[in-house]
Amino acid sequence: MKKIIFLALTGVLALTLSSGGVTREEIEKNPILKGKMLAKRCSWCHDINKTIVAPPFKVILKRYKDIPEETLKKQFFDAIKNGSKGKWHDWLEGHVQTRLGKGDVMYMPPQKPYYTDEEIKLIVNWLLTLKK
Ligand code: HEC
Repeated sequence: MKKIIFLALTGVLALTLSSGGVTREEIEKNPILKGKMLAKRCSWCHDINKTIVAPPFKVILKRYKDIPEETLKKQFFDAIKNGSKGKWHDWLEGHVQTRLGKGDVMYMPPQKPYYTDEEIKLIVNWLLTLKK
């Protein structure tokens, strides 16, 4: 039984950020899928692999690959809830062309107006599945 669930989950994660063909009930039953759906807002700026205007999630996870999962969960929770500024300054300068003046920093605005704490936790749990 465990194996079947695992396979089903892998299939789901192989999809892109689109919700094609997934019903609301399926999303409610699957916390990882729910986190992924909630993360759609993030795709204004982040993609999993591609650079839009923020570091791709895979690049973020790679930078922090040696940080224990529990620490990372807290760090990401805080970044999503309250925003983040400066940590990726050099990376952004090198990878994202902005029309901002020199010295200005692209930052991540707090996402707390859009999500509850519970929802942010679901997003973080989904995000960490991208590590594998
Ligand atoms: C308006 C654009 C924008 C949106 C929307 C956005 N981000 Fe970000 N995000 C950024 C930028 C820019 C950075 C780099 C910030 C820095 O330099 O500290 C960043 C950084 C991060 C980081 C790295 C934090 C760290 O500790 O290094 C994580 C994780 C992250 N975002 C997740 C998300 C998630 C999940 C969402 C959706 C809930 C989201 N972001 C929505 C622009 C955005």
